[in-house]
Amino acid sequence: MSPEPQRAYVLVSGSTRKDSQSAKVTRHVAAQIAVADPGATVDVVDLSVDQPEMWHEGFWNDGPPPCPVWARLSPLFARSDALVLVAPEWNGIVPPAVTNLFLLASRGELAHKPALLVGVSATQGGSYPVASLRASSQKNTQICYIPDQIIVRDARNVLNGPEPQSEPDEVLRERIAYSAQVLREYAAAFRHIRASGVVDLSTWPYGM
Ligand SMILES: Cc1cc2nc3c(=O)[nH]c(=O)nc-3n(C[C@H](O)[C@H](O)[C@H](O)COP(=O)(O)O)c2cc1C
Repeated sequence: MSPEPQRAYVLVSGSTRKDSQSAKVTRHVAAQIAVADPGATVDVVDLSVDQPEMWHEGFWNDGPPPCPVWARLSPLFARSDALVLVAPEWNGIVPPAVTNLFLLASRGELAHKPALLVGVSATQGGSYPVASLRASSQKNTQICYIPDQIIVRDARNVLNGPEPQSEPDEVLRERIAYSAQVLREYAAAFRHIRASGVVDLSTWPYGM
């Protein structure tokens, strides 16, 4: 039997702020995925650097995407086996760039792929981004959020450097390492779903 091809992960840092806590958290999760799934390819899309245009009707054309950044990112997502979405809580919602991503990913790039949600807060928030993405962002993208989720609270004081600085920091690191392993297993299992021949995005591109 030929060996299973290596898995591909794409992590999105959803903050458009430079040097954001979300970017720091994303780097840490990426490193843990590399540990959990040696040999996997792990790509990070930082929305403070990779800034696709806001959606407009030009994206409905059948040809190549009208935006060069999205023309580069779309195939990266399309090749992926699993996703991590790191979303900061901004005024209780996700940043517009995160919402925009779900408008742009309209060609099945995320469909039937497992995804780990990570909410980030400088204080004790961070649950709203996770809850709001779970509410409806799967409708047309058909992304599949796994039950595990991470909420990074007091973000400035955790995940700094190689060693934990406090007990909450230590517990958070353990949870992230655990969730990376869970995501790996979902990534392996969901390949079978996509390869089953049952998924029919041309007939059923939109959810209810
Ligand atoms: C426009 C804006 C609104 C914010 N609103 C909230 C909020 O509703 N709840 C919260 O816990 N933190 C809020 N924060 C603080 C973020 O939690 C903090 O910036 C944290 O570092 C995550 O964002 P970052 O990834 O951009 O750094 C807000 C930050 C910004 C820039």
